[in-house]
Amino acid sequence: MKQIQVGLIGFGTVGRGLAQTLYEQKDRLLRKVGAEVVLAQVADTSAESLPEQFSDVKLTKDANEIFANPDIDIVVELIGGMEPARTFVLEAINHGKHVVTANKALLSVHGKEIFEAAVANNVEVGFEASVGGGIPVIKSLKEGLVANRINSIMGIMNGTANYILTKMTDHGVPFDEVLKDAQEQGFAEADPAYDVEGIDTTHKLAILMTIAYGKHVHLDDINTEGISNIKPIDIEFAREFGCRIKLLAISRHHGEYLEARVHPTMVPTSHMLANINGAYNAIHFNGDTVGNVLLYGLGAGMMPTGSAVAADVVDIGRNILCSSVNRVPALSYLPENIGSPKISPMSELTCPYYFRI
Ligand code: HSE
Repeated sequence: MKQIQVGLIGFGTVGRGLAQTLYEQKDRLLRKVGAEVVLAQVADTSAESLPEQFSDVKLTKDANEIFANPDIDIVVELIGGMEPARTFVLEAINHGKHVVTANKALLSVHGKEIFEAAVANNVEVGFEASVGGGIPVIKSLKEGLVANRINSIMGIMNGTANYILTKMTDHGVPFDEVLKDAQEQGFAEADPAYDVEGIDTTHKLAILMTIAYGKHVHLDDINTEGISNIKPIDIEFAREFGCRIKLLAISRHHGEYLEARVHPTMVPTSHMLANINGAYNAIHFNGDTVGNVLLYGLGAGMMPTGSAVAADVVDIGRNILCSSVNRVPALSYLPENIGSPKISPMSELTCPYYFRI
């Protein structure tokens, strides 16, 4: 029986989601891939043992053992953050391993270096789980919408912030209490400031813009404001105006420049985005060929994000079996030749707090 062997770095919430998905969907994946997709090795500095169903999986504290293992085809990085994640991803690539990561912070800052290394080593980098949790947003943008000039991207991209705003709006629960709840449910980042200050949303918008517009967009290019200053009175005012407050990521391609911003926005209740609640995300694209597309689903959590990581593993596994590894997705991430649109300074743009459709 052919096998695709996976080495996983990081057995936290999403790592467990991936392991469980590969275990529970084993027969389905075998049928759909034509090979067994096997979690062969896990590196985690704090895990002393793995749950019983993973008794065949080797556990180590040293990720280098995974890179040195000649049987591992795909390395999945799920530790998050910059270092040692960046070093691990580059090491895996330099060892000729394909990589799957959910690490939006890493890609929004070091994406260029990582994808250039992948191209140089003829390996793929899958990053479906980096945006939108379980929603196949990257595949939709790179593949489904490939024959479009993307005019705009807009959406709710952080489950924790949306969960907090929903609870504050619908149940009057104070900010700090809801944040604690989101952390307990495993939605929040290790540093929840990333969620509530809009930084995580900005990471995701940078990744989508890079794919959509073919320009490497850096975190610092995007004007960002979070939700930590939203008070119950703001929510009440929004209600009086017939609106709900949502943390939106907004980007438009204006030809000569790109508009990009993340901020709390009063969205009229008649608008679809006002009705995306809890940890759900919704991402809207406008393409010149297709028109409007809206993707909706759970944007965070163990199993939705595990599902997205598994999708990349399967995609790459299929390519390995077809020996067509030098096609998507790493190459398609690189900028297409669309000239060099500039990120406009905020002062050149109008930035309405009130968002009108
Ligand atoms: N902290 C992130 C969120 C996790 O709440 O959306 C998924 O990227």
